[in-house]
Amino acid sequence: MRLRRKPHIDEKLQAFADFVTARADVQPIVKDATRELYVELGTGKGDFIAAIAERNPQINFIGLEVEATVVLAAARKVRDKNLTNVRLIVFDAENIAELFAEHAVDRLYINFCDPWPKKRHAKRRLTHVRFLELYKKILKPGGEIYFKTDNRGLFDFSLEQFALAGIDVRDVTNDLHAAEPPDNIRTEYETRFSAAGVPINSCVAEVANG
Ligand SMILES: C[S@@+](CC[C@H](N)C(=O)[O-])C[C@H]1O[C@@H](n2cnc3c(N)ncnc32)[C@H](O)[C@@H]1O
Repeated sequence: MRLRRKPHIDEKLQAFADFVTARADVQPIVKDATRELYVELGTGKGDFIAAIAERNPQINFIGLEVEATVVLAAARKVRDKNLTNVRLIVFDAENIAELFAEHAVDRLYINFCDPWPKKRHAKRRLTHVRFLELYKKILKPGGEIYFKTDNRGLFDFSLEQFALAGIDVRDVTNDLHAAEPPDNIRTEYETRFSAAGVPINSCVAEVANG
């Protein structure tokens, strides 16, 4: 996917240089051996990353989002909460292996990724085995992928892809909110779909060897 950048947005993002980081500047956080590193793919407007980072100040968080305008909205939330453990980056998850060294990441969150419903676009789904192989490289042994989606078709497809990649899956549910775990943090899309009565699918995948 092409990075969608607009010059006036880049200018606005400059004002958030403490949180919105350039590709190279992310490395000190990635290499910070004193803290766990959690990464969200497709951060959107940042409700989730701002809330989880606030609850877990001892963990470093990086949010990847391909849309610069959306990153701007997320940056405002991070600033308003005075969070120092979050960095956001305008970045396409396609290139994730360029950003993180092998075994650098403890946990990945994939929340309501684009479903790409057409079969010929299946490879663009962030849970396609092609992506899972990249995640296996950057995750530590025992590292986890937390996945949520409203889309049952995408969810079933993803479970197949996890199996194809040899990744074990637990806590599989087709209705997360039926018995919502107290530590569940609702994302923007989750809130929206839930209000419309759409059940939320969720699972946790654990990479054995990384
Ligand atoms: C459906 S929205 C979900 C946003 C948020 N995670 C939520 O749950 O509310 C998907 C987001 O992923 C971003 N996205 C899509 N493909 C991406 C990619 N390849 N790399 C990074 N972000 C991507 C989109 O721009 C969009 O903001």
